[in-house]
Amino acid sequence: MKGSIISWLLLAVSTISIFSDVAATSASAECLGADQTSLLLELRDSLVFNTSLSTKLVRWGRSASSWSGVTCEDGLVVGLDLSEESISGGINRSSSLFKLKFLRSLNLAVNDFNYSAIPSGLVNLSHLVHLDLSDGQFGGQIPAELSRLTKLRTLDLSSSYSSLKLEKPSLRSLIGDMGELRELYLDLVNMSSEGSEWCNALSSSVPKLEVLSMSACFLSGPIDASLLSLANLSIIQLDFNDLSTTVPSILANFSNLKGLSLHDCGLQGEFPQKVFQVETLQTLYLSDNPLLQVSLPDFPKNSSLDTLSLRNTNISGSFLDSIGNLRKLLELDLHNCSLSGLIPSSMENLLELTFLDLSSNNLTSSLPSYGASRNLVYIDLSNNALTGQITSVGWEDLLNLEGLDLRSNSLEGDIPPTLFTLPLLEVINLSNNRFSGQLIINPNVSSFRLQMLDLGGNLLQGSILASIFELRGLRDLSLSSNNFSGSMNINALQGFINLTSLDLSYSGLSIKGMASTSATAFSFPTFEQLHLASCQLQTLPWFLANQSFLTSLDLSHNYIRGEIPRWIWTLRNLQLLNLSSNFFEDLETPLRNLTSTLQVVDLHSNMLRGNMLPLQSQTIYFDFSSNNITSVIPDNIGDYLSSMVFFSLSKNNFHGSIPKSICKAAYSILITKPFEWDYS
Ligand SMILES: *[C@@H]1O[C@H](CO)[C@@H](O)[C@H](O)[C@H]1NC(C)=O
Ligand SMILES: *[C@@H]1O[C@H](CO)[C@@H](O)[C@H](O)[C@H]1NC(C)=O
Ligand SMILES: *[C@@H]1O[C@H](CO)[C@@H](O)[C@H](O)[C@H]1NC(C)=O
Ligand SMILES: *[C@@H]1O[C@H](CO)[C@@H](O)[C@H](O)[C@H]1NC(C)=O
Ligand SMILES: *[C@@H]1O[C@H](CO)[C@@H](O)[C@H](O)[C@H]1NC(C)=O
Ligand SMILES: *[C@@H]1O[C@H](CO)[C@@H](O)[C@H](O)[C@H]1NC(C)=O
Ligand SMILES: *[C@@H]1O[C@H](CO)[C@@H](O)[C@H](O)[C@H]1NC(C)=O
Ligand SMILES: *[C@@H]1O[C@H](CO)[C@@H](O)[C@H](O)[C@H]1NC(C)=O
Ligand SMILES: *[C@@H]1O[C@H](CO)[C@@H](O)[C@H](O)[C@H]1NC(C)=O
Ligand SMILES: *[C@@H]1O[C@H](CO)[C@@H](O)[C@H](O)[C@H]1NC(C)=O
Ligand SMILES: *[C@@H]1O[C@H](CO)[C@@H](O)[C@H](O)[C@H]1NC(C)=O
Ligand SMILES: *[C@@H]1O[C@H](CO)[C@@H](O)[C@H](O)[C@H]1NC(C)=O
Repeated sequence: MKGSIISWLLLAVSTISIFSDVAATSASAECLGADQTSLLLELRDSLVFNTSLSTKLVRWGRSASSWSGVTCEDGLVVGLDLSEESISGGINRSSSLFKLKFLRSLNLAVNDFNYSAIPSGLVNLSHLVHLDLSDGQFGGQIPAELSRLTKLRTLDLSSSYSSLKLEKPSLRSLIGDMGELRELYLDLVNMSSEGSEWCNALSSSVPKLEVLSMSACFLSGPIDASLLSLANLSIIQLDFNDLSTTVPSILANFSNLKGLSLHDCGLQGEFPQKVFQVETLQTLYLSDNPLLQVSLPDFPKNSSLDTLSLRNTNISGSFLDSIGNLRKLLELDLHNCSLSGLIPSSMENLLELTFLDLSSNNLTSSLPSYGASRNLVYIDLSNNALTGQITSVGWEDLLNLEGLDLRSNSLEGDIPPTLFTLPLLEVINLSNNRFSGQLIINPNVSSFRLQMLDLGGNLLQGSILASIFELRGLRDLSLSSNNFSGSMNINALQGFINLTSLDLSYSGLSIKGMASTSATAFSFPTFEQLHLASCQLQTLPWFLANQSFLTSLDLSHNYIRGEIPRWIWTLRNLQLLNLSSNFFEDLETPLRNLTSTLQVVDLHSNMLRGNMLPLQSQTIYFDFSSNNITSVIPDNIGDYLSSMVFFSLSKNNFHGSIPKSICKAAYSILITKPFEWDYS
């Protein structure tokens, strides 16, 4: 949750630039009076900072012109920017910082003040117009003294970690005398405040406010009509507050509204259509409000909207043609919005679009032509009911495309070879469709960036051309569950230095060349997942013993004979092992304990004889059925069953009686499948 808040805030707040009206001229000694330079040096000496990360403080005093971060006017320091200076610890009460009385702008953002309190000495800097302490890692109550900085136009106390509180003083007493404030950022400051309270505090105190950013402040609803007295409000960001309220139509009355962001606010009821029609509105985030009902209006032709995210809300009615009126749209995210029907062909008019996500809806049309939207970087239409071919989409023009996700639709026909020539494409997921024909990959691409290619669950045919091995950047390749034919030599994988996940299960391909060759095991990729079920393997891939990063290995439904080697139980990251439906006869002895990560062990339908594997407490799935194990069932077996979701030893030749521990365990465990026992 926390990670997502941070990345969200980075996204949402990134548009804002403050400190624009303090001249960026770096100070030099000529400009600074002697008393000011000695105050600065005193300040530097009192601060703890990392000299190898600092770019400003570390230079101070080295030469006459080396006062970076300092702005001066008439011999006086008027601006100080010590952001990202790796300052740690606190600021001393009597720090000379508070003697720089003419400061109009102070920036201490992105440092590590170790959750010390915001220094109340700041009250002495009575000329301050801009104060930025964002992500300074301050903690505790925001001091009441700040409320006396009555000239402030910008106040930024936001952070990406909740450590500041605004209780005593309250929001009202903090900003009560800040009538000049234009921009207020308090993201992640805990103010546990009710709608009437925070809205009234704002409307009665800061009439000139233009930017209001109070995400994740533990605010509750409703959004009070009193806010309307802030006539110039143009950015409203209240994400991650549990407002549990409807969205009032008065939001459409802000005549200068440019950005409205109410992500994950527990919004309910109908979203007022009028808000979409505010001509100045550029960005609208209403995502992750699953109870919010949205009906798309007739968008005006001159709408300014460039970002529209209704992700995880409920859009009623069909997807309107007038979306094509949003000519300035850069980002459209309608993931999981209960949309049905056709994708309007008017979407071809969205020439500026860079990001399109219509995934997890019930859209039924064929793909529109996106060729004209040359700026598209990312297209996600996965999990819909799209039909038809994708060959006429105009892929060759989408030279900026980095990600394409069309998985889980009903698309058919050939996979256009042009896709594989797009220079920036990193991810292609076309899995679970009905694509057929031969896979043709143009080998003449040198600048190839493709990292993920998933064509699993289709009807692709023919053999795999050697050209696929030109895709050297691949990390993740799946061709599983297709109708390919012919064979592939495992040694061809040696060139894929970045490959970590390979799934060829049920692809129709047979894998050859499993015996050791002159190549060394180290020239193979470092796999995390290797799934080669039903690939007509006759032996274990010889390079596996060195694959210590492997977490999931599926070699089921092959023709592998002989011993299951001991080293398999020592692959130290292995979580899933499926060797079922082979012809293994023995476990190499002496038996070893399973590696402590192994959770799923499936060895059913082999010809294993002799003793059973020792059980381990981390195992949650254990299938040893349909083998020829003759040993006595271990007495302590019941001890391991409580954490299992599946356990079967059926169809073996166990001797002796069912241990008592099982009967005891059976009372207390819920097991998805009842035990079955065959013993002679
Ligand atoms: C300063 O930063 C460098 C680079 O990140 C780091 O290696 C070093 O340990 C830091 N020094 C201190 C005292 O934190
Ligand atoms: C941070 O604060 C803690 C507790 O207040 C203290 O133990 C620690 O020494 C401080 N660290 C620094 C770098 O000042
Ligand atoms: C603050 O600085 C003064 C003078 O530099 C020093 O005497 C005092 O001990 C410091 N106080 C703290 C709490 O570090
Ligand atoms: C703040 O100003 C007051 C009055 O001018 C002065 O007495 C005090 O020492 C100043 N505080 C600091 C930390 O400089
Ligand atoms: C926010 O403040 C309220 C009231 O003081 C408190 O109950 C709550 O635990 C605080 N939440 C966090 C995350 O600090
Ligand atoms: C709103 O902005 C306009 C134009 O910048 C300005 O003239 C007006 O005074 C502002 N209104 C308030 C209440 O600050
Ligand atoms: C909002 O604007 C509408 C007209 O667009 C007006 O009828 C209504 O009174 C306004 N609401 C408020 C609270 O000012
Ligand atoms: C948008 O178009 C409407 C009429 O369609 C017009 O009244 C309005 O002034 C236009 N607004 C802008 C910003 O161009
Ligand atoms: C998708 O639409 C089809 C046809 O309109 C309908 O039968 C089906 O139930 C819908 N599926 C979902 C998940 O809404
Ligand atoms: C493999 O990954 C590394 C690190 O991400 C990257 O620099 C390198 O170019 C990749 N190799 C190929 C062949 O793409
Ligand atoms: C195997 O596991 C058992 C039970 O957890 C433990 O007593 C034994 O020492 C382990 N043996 C080895 C070789 O790790
Ligand atoms: C099971 O093992 C016994 C002897 O250990 C052997 O006679 C029998 O044929 C085996 N059954 C199967 C199905 O392998």
